[in-house]
Amino acid sequence: MRKKLVAANWKMHGDLRTNEGLLAGVANGLDGVSCDVVICPPYPYLAQGASVLKGTSVSLGAQNVSEHTSGAFTGEVSVSMLVDVGCRYVLIGHSERRALFGESDQVVATKFELALSAGLIPVLCVGETAAERKAGDTLAVVSRQIRSVMDRVGVLAIGSGVVAYEPVWAIGTGLTASPDQAQEVHAAIRALVAGADPLVAQKLRILYGGSVKPQTASELFAQEDVDGGLIGGASLVVGDFLAICQAAV
Ligand code: PGA
Repeated sequence: MRKKLVAANWKMHGDLRTNEGLLAGVANGLDGVSCDVVICPPYPYLAQGASVLKGTSVSLGAQNVSEHTSGAFTGEVSVSMLVDVGCRYVLIGHSERRALFGESDQVVATKFELALSAGLIPVLCVGETAAERKAGDTLAVVSRQIRSVMDRVGVLAIGSGVVAYEPVWAIGTGLTASPDQAQEVHAAIRALVAGADPLVAQKLRILYGGSVKPQTASELFAQEDVDGGLIGGASLVVGDFLAICQAAV
């Protein structure tokens, strides 16, 4: 009953020429794909994405957004700017933002709230580090990350967004969580949300991210609580990304 979603996170890759081929290649290759598809290019290429994806079934997303609405914040981009250039989705609290740019749970909650208020669909990224998993803290960490947003915006608002579980140790490392490991955390996230509102939990899409490849996508997406994927490296290769979309049935 939950329509699957596959989102491409290009991170800081691409240029006008290669983007053109990637965007058009994905948009033109979706015959037989039944999931929702989103592409998140770097900021300078959002307008290019909007232009190439116009009239296609692929939605445009951003990888980040400012926690402020406007003003003297050099180098920042606001939610209204993202809407203005045609974004429908925005990634919030990606682990690289949390780890490399110091985004706290509070900042992440503010961004989530702002994105929703602007009419964007926030994709809330959560996940534990290798050390946290080793210490047996996976569910505690992920629960804290979800709860800090839910406490701020309320459970209904969580349901207006998407959650992406991305174990930090699996991102860009070639180490994918096993389908069982992913399912365990996805089920725990859904149970946490169900504690506040069972209906919202039932409808909430929870994506898995972390070295998803065409070879691993089907089994991950077959798990009961895995509703699609957030794809980094493999989203930069048209054939690989399309194969992953095809696995999301
Ligand atoms: P990866 O990245 O697929 O390259 O591991 C996923 C992500 O960071 O969203």
